[in-house]
Amino acid sequence: MSAHGPAIPMTSHRAKPLQGIAEVPGDKSISHRALILGALSIGETRIKGLLDGQDVLDTARAMRAFGAEVTDHGQGNWSVHGVGVGGFAEPEDVIDCGNSGTGVRLIMGTMSTSPITATFTGDASLRSRPMRRITDPIGLFGAASYGREGGRLPMTVVGAKSPMPVRYVVPVPSAQVKSAVLLAGLNAPGETVVIEAEATRDHTERMLKGFGADLSVEQTAEGRVITLKGQPELRALDIEVPRDPSSAAFPVCAALIVEGSDVLVPGIGLNPTRSGLFITLREMGADLSYENEREEGGEPVVDMRARFSSAIKGVEVPPERAASMIDEFPILSVVAAFAEGRTVMRGVKELRVKESDRIDAMARGLEACGVMVEEDEDTLIVHGMGAGGVPGGACAEARLDHRIAMSFLIAGMASERPVSVDDAGPIATSFPIFEGLMVSLGAKLKRTDG
Ligand code: S3P
Repeated sequence: MSAHGPAIPMTSHRAKPLQGIAEVPGDKSISHRALILGALSIGETRIKGLLDGQDVLDTARAMRAFGAEVTDHGQGNWSVHGVGVGGFAEPEDVIDCGNSGTGVRLIMGTMSTSPITATFTGDASLRSRPMRRITDPIGLFGAASYGREGGRLPMTVVGAKSPMPVRYVVPVPSAQVKSAVLLAGLNAPGETVVIEAEATRDHTERMLKGFGADLSVEQTAEGRVITLKGQPELRALDIEVPRDPSSAAFPVCAALIVEGSDVLVPGIGLNPTRSGLFITLREMGADLSYENEREEGGEPVVDMRARFSSAIKGVEVPPERAASMIDEFPILSVVAAFAEGRTVMRGVKELRVKESDRIDAMARGLEACGVMVEEDEDTLIVHGMGAGGVPGGACAEARLDHRIAMSFLIAGMASERPVSVDDAGPIATSFPIFEGLMVSLGAKLKRTDG
């Protein structure tokens, strides 16, 4: 079963050259943050280009449950009338965040310093994911949480009545944890300090400043030290959401491996904390160019052009780059399967606690497609078979994970025999137009029966 309906089995057949323009949807990370910070500000926040994926729709519903007025005006245009920092009302019912780790973790952080109680749940994938990484730091602010064994959802959070500011060293490289602590710090008096040893995506910091928060970032020997002054008055903002580099990765990588392809992917956010995949692809010898580099709404943006190349080579991805491409390892491992030689991905154990265990999901699916893979707790190694050299002819399990489903459908576009996924339904969480967009470029995707 998909999160929101019956399973949608899908098969991807070897494609003719992919050609055209791929307009991918808005950035998922920025979309969540725009709704949440809009809900915490005073006045009307207007958002253009919001992702209408299920993850973001679930966050919009949650913001309404906490008292904000959130309106969908169609075609990615939304408005939010916020309740101000500390103004969240107690929700009347359970908050269901569906498949979204970002949604639930950021919202738990946000409400944890208000004197209200909320209970959170999600789909089977989200209910299996670790939440202690959030409940530990919000406990320092004075919030209490009661969840299932292992700190899993469903979970009830009792917000702190008199929150204390905290100084917190993030123990795993995670933008969700960093952001949850900063959002909690908004309603604590004094200064909340968050320290991350490795830089992770910085959309929360950028957007908090845009909304008028007093936030500074300092690079020290300990890492990035982020200092936020609590209890600011956030002022409503007009936000233009750039297109999602993590979604762009799919048509880009498809064009790189399907013989004869040439695809333009315009308006892609290229924040340096998100661009690791594209750096890696260029190191592999991919024909990937940036055109029209510019800045939109405080984020760097480019038009990307990806063309097939038969000369893609395996590489070692430096572990310190992992955070800037954490969502892109599944699709990188597909490109690696069509490269010459080995691609070594180390320092990737966080992949085991994403929407699925992505190391295991990719390893099993690639093996079923005839690709040799090695793995350990923190490493994935793919032995490339060269352009067009992957046998395919398998059905991969999507495991309620949008990026696993899309990765194997892309693999099928260049494999000798078709590749299926048991459920393409989860793709709607982040890239609801994936099927139509890829077909418009020339992909052969067919919905199949079981
Ligand atoms: C996200 C952070 C990352 C990423 C997720 C989105 C965010 O998760 O995998 O898709 O928007 O903050 P982690 O913080 O767990 O690394």
